[in-house]
Amino acid sequence: MQLRTRRSALISDHIIPGRESSTQVIAVSSGKGGVGKTNVVANVAIALTKLGKRVLILDADFSLGNLDILLGLIPQHTIEDVLAGTHTLDQIVLKGPAGVSVLPASSGVPHLTTLTESQQLVIQEQLEQLTGEMDVLLIDTGAGISPSVTFFAASADETIVVVSPEPTSLTDAYALIKVLARQYREHRFKILVNQAKSPREASEVFGKLDVAVDRFLHVAIELVGAIPYDDYVPMAVMRQKAVLEVFPDAPASHAFRKLAQQIIQWPKPDLPKSSVQLIWQRSTIHAGH
Ligand SMILES: Nc1ncnc2c1ncn2[C@@H]1O[C@H](COP(=O)(O)OP(=O)(O)O)[C@@H](O)[C@H]1O
Ligand SMILES: [Mg+2]
Repeated sequence: MQLRTRRSALISDHIIPGRESSTQVIAVSSGKGGVGKTNVVANVAIALTKLGKRVLILDADFSLGNLDILLGLIPQHTIEDVLAGTHTLDQIVLKGPAGVSVLPASSGVPHLTTLTESQQLVIQEQLEQLTGEMDVLLIDTGAGISPSVTFFAASADETIVVVSPEPTSLTDAYALIKVLARQYREHRFKILVNQAKSPREASEVFGKLDVAVDRFLHVAIELVGAIPYDDYVPMAVMRQKAVLEVFPDAPASHAFRKLAQQIIQWPKPDLPKSSVQLIWQRSTIHAGH
């Protein structure tokens, strides 16, 4: 309890008054693994970059982080090196396709909430510096309802929950939304249906979730888009490329560009709500629950 208070005080000391940052923090989560989060993050990041946005991806999927593999990148150093003091965060950032920046946080990192206070400050300050230069921070949170997922989902300005037509994907998405609603008082979620065989199937999938969530959880969900099932996606994955890069005319690529077009219309977060420091503040408070 005392530690928590001290930590928050330390963190607020570091908020720079009047700092001109409006980095939009978007977490991409799912209840169930394998629904397409990593592909969504990679392709949306590239599409946003092509629209002129500066995008940083944080690979925070601590169990199955594989964004670097998907993008054919080879991390030389990890956050471990930052904690050891031999490198800074911007030295471990990888440059991906179209100039997307990728922070391979999933490799060799203890969970962020288990870091000591001084380690947190190091990461926090450097992450703040890094995201200060970015328009969008996209976080691949991994799947499930563990604190390592909810930590980021609850802290972001927007949470996109990815679902696929599989029934288990829906029940697991429901479970994730329930945890975020009950434990973190989140009440707005954006839903992305991936791998639907038709627009009709996508709206049916969303409809089922909408009915359950509205009835039992009393939170609002919004369908932000649908990415069709597209054989070009696994073909691109095999080549360790984002589909948008190698098959720009594939149906999924069109859908990813459309989603990015929509994301840039989202209202900018209020200051200092979106600040990375506040992410820390919010998550350290949550971690104390
Ligand atoms: N729209 C899609 N159409 C076809 N296959 C897809 C689509 N999206 C993802 N996949 C496939 O699903 C698998 C899991 O995707 P991935 O992005 O790694 O999921 P997650 O990060 O949620 O675990 C990948 O092998 C990928 O090729
Ligand atoms: Mg993944």
